[in-house]
Amino acid sequence: MCNSTSHTPSRRDFFSATVAAGLMTSAAGRSLRAADANDEIKLGFIGCGVRGGLLMKQFGEVPGVRIAGLCDVDSQRLGQAKERFPLAKGFQDLRDLIGDPNIDAVVITTCNHWHCLAAIWAMQAGKDVYVEKPLSHSQWEGRQVVAAARKYDRICQIGTQQRSDPMQAEIKKFLHEEKGLGEIQVARVNHYFIRKSIGKSDAPLPIDKNLAYDTWLGPAQKQPIYRNQLHYDWHWDWNTGSGDMGNWGVHILDDVRNNIFQDSVALPHRILAGGGRVGFNDAGDTPNVHFAYFDTGSIPVLIGLSNLADQPGSKQRATHHGPHSGYIAHCQGGRFEGQRGRAVAFDNDGRTIREFTGNRGDVLHQQNFIDAVRNHDRSVLHAEVSVGNDSTGWCNLANVAFRAGGAFSQDAVNEVALDEWRNLVAATGEHLRSHQLHLNDPAIRLSPMLELDPESEQFVGEHAESGNQFLKREYRSGFEIPEFA
Ligand SMILES: NC(=O)c1ccc[n+]([C@@H]2O[C@H](COP(=O)([O-])OP(=O)(O)OC[C@H]3O[C@@H](n4cnc5c(N)ncnc54)[C@H](O)[C@@H]3O)[C@@H](O)[C@H]2O)c1
Repeated sequence: MCNSTSHTPSRRDFFSATVAAGLMTSAAGRSLRAADANDEIKLGFIGCGVRGGLLMKQFGEVPGVRIAGLCDVDSQRLGQAKERFPLAKGFQDLRDLIGDPNIDAVVITTCNHWHCLAAIWAMQAGKDVYVEKPLSHSQWEGRQVVAAARKYDRICQIGTQQRSDPMQAEIKKFLHEEKGLGEIQVARVNHYFIRKSIGKSDAPLPIDKNLAYDTWLGPAQKQPIYRNQLHYDWHWDWNTGSGDMGNWGVHILDDVRNNIFQDSVALPHRILAGGGRVGFNDAGDTPNVHFAYFDTGSIPVLIGLSNLADQPGSKQRATHHGPHSGYIAHCQGGRFEGQRGRAVAFDNDGRTIREFTGNRGDVLHQQNFIDAVRNHDRSVLHAEVSVGNDSTGWCNLANVAFRAGGAFSQDAVNEVALDEWRNLVAATGEHLRSHQLHLNDPAIRLSPMLELDPESEQFVGEHAESGNQFLKREYRSGFEIPEFA
């Protein structure tokens, strides 16, 4: 089933073998592809979990693509993927897949903490990369991936597939060229999605003997896990995940950057955020209630996110305006509500004046990556790594602000003289009250206003240190991210 063994090459072995082999095959592959636009592209998947399985299907629908390699540290998951693609070569160690000269490009669908290092290793070995969102676990490492893509001249697309939905171009035309609702004044992002507790045991989670745990951990710290399951719930542990801000927030903030700012704003320059992990009493540490203000220097952006129901035990989401997972652009002439696959424009009397229907970008986004790989042309990518790095940055910064936060302070909230922001904080307070909680509870944090220098991507000013400590993580030995920028 699997041609890999428990042998894990040292980094030195890995790079001497793969970089040489990879750069040779990549150069050969490039000229071949330029000669024949129908050349088959051989993909290797790193991570055969839920998303990996879906992407195998979507890439499989793109003409001229072969799923040639499958890799998962969990041999059971690898075995299931191999049953679907029996001709693909199986690997339990990503270094072996990356080093395989028969693979042209890799699709990275691991946990978030592996995205950057796996992408860099693959590009160093001459592979093109499709890497899932969020690009990075911290903004520093995302910057290294962008620099690596330039240094090794590789194609690198981020899995924010809504960028490939043709509806986005119609929306931009409506909002900006036609000025269908006049000036955009404020943008509000929502993600209200009920999740459950991930459990909290007294004893550390036993690791299945079928899983190569050291490689699963990779850059993350080795520390006991007290939740009920290893897979998926890594999202709610800072060591491996980025909370729902980095999970879903990235998709919607990416829509805002795309449709409202037409990518003119890379990162916000001031951030104020708060929230808490409340009501679950579990082993997670990322917030399940999170709210943030982003000062862009032009249109302000707010995000409200909650994984709690409107009441304990209820199946209803917290009360909010607009889509439960989407954005609202408040405009002079009305409001625009966008979400995955559809959008509606309303005038100031609440009448629908325009509707947009999309297709979510599935398959088109993968096709877009393959087109770029075939032509070795990053300019055609809809979510090129630098775009994905910036969209991920908003989430990383909102997470840093949460982590840098202290006790809730209404005075700090009032620093932002914006009705939409005050309404968001007040509505969050109401939501918490339904759970017998209060904004002033010790479990709720609020950051000071953090000021970011867009050039250095460091926080500056009075509260710089409280934020800067979270801009780069500690990497486990052997899994450090190389510094290029
Ligand atoms: N674009 C989207 O709409 C979308 C949707 C869902 C998930 N995602 C992203 O996809 C990624 C995976 O999510 P998921 O829900 O499939 O998680 P998951 O936990 O179900 O799967 C992750 C898989 O990666 C494997 N893995 C971890 N480290 C590895 C390594 N070093 N080498 C090989 N395999 C490794 C795990 O064993 C697991 O099978 C996440 O980053 C998530 O944000 C994107």
